Amino acid sequence: MPKASLSPSLSRRSVHLGLSVVLVIVAAGAAFFAWGPALAPQIEIGRRLYAETCAACHGASLEGQPNWQKRLPNGRLPAPPHDVSGHTWHHPDGVLFRITKDGPAAYPKGYQTDMPAFALRLTDKEIAATLAFIKSTWPPEIRAKQERIDVDSRRRKP
Ligand code: HEC
Repeated sequence: MPKASLSPSLSRRSVHLGLSVVLVIVAAGAAFFAWGPALAPQIEIGRRLYAETCAACHGASLEGQPNWQKRLPNGRLPAPPHDVSGHTWHHPDGVLFRITKDGPAAYPKGYQTDMPAFALRLTDKEIAATLAFIKSTWPPEIRAKQERIDVDSRRRKP
């Protein structure tokens, strides 16, 4: 084959390669702009909602009420921390969501608790944002553990 006919096919191949590289970069850029800012505002909204609706009991720094493991004189439990020292991260997503939305109704029948229901004060999206903010404060290993608990709980459901 003459040399001249080789180079056009080679250069066509490098054009294809170049185009694929450009496509991958464009796709990665699009994914970043679609997901990056879409997640960050949810956490910012959650941060504000947490300060307005949860911090009074669960603490501005998610530290919970003092002596939160000791029952109050009325037999109820104080608000536990939402940071790693508490047990919020021991629960799957569905449980956290239900406790926040339904409050006492999420607990066993007749259970006495000071945790209010937020169904009438927050939308499902706002509850999800508040929980996303709480999770965003956990270190990666705790987030990973909670994710595993969440996945396991879904697997156990029929
Ligand atoms: C009036 C006080 C009060 C407010 C406000 C409040 N909580 Fe609570 N919360 C409690 C108490 C008290 C408990 C412990 C309930 C129990 O076990 O009796 C609790 C428990 C919880 C739990 C279960 C934690 C665990 O480890 O079992 C979650 C989740 C939770 N609250 C989320 C929230 C979120 C999210 C908000 C804001 C939208 C909020 N709470 C606002 C008092 C409050």
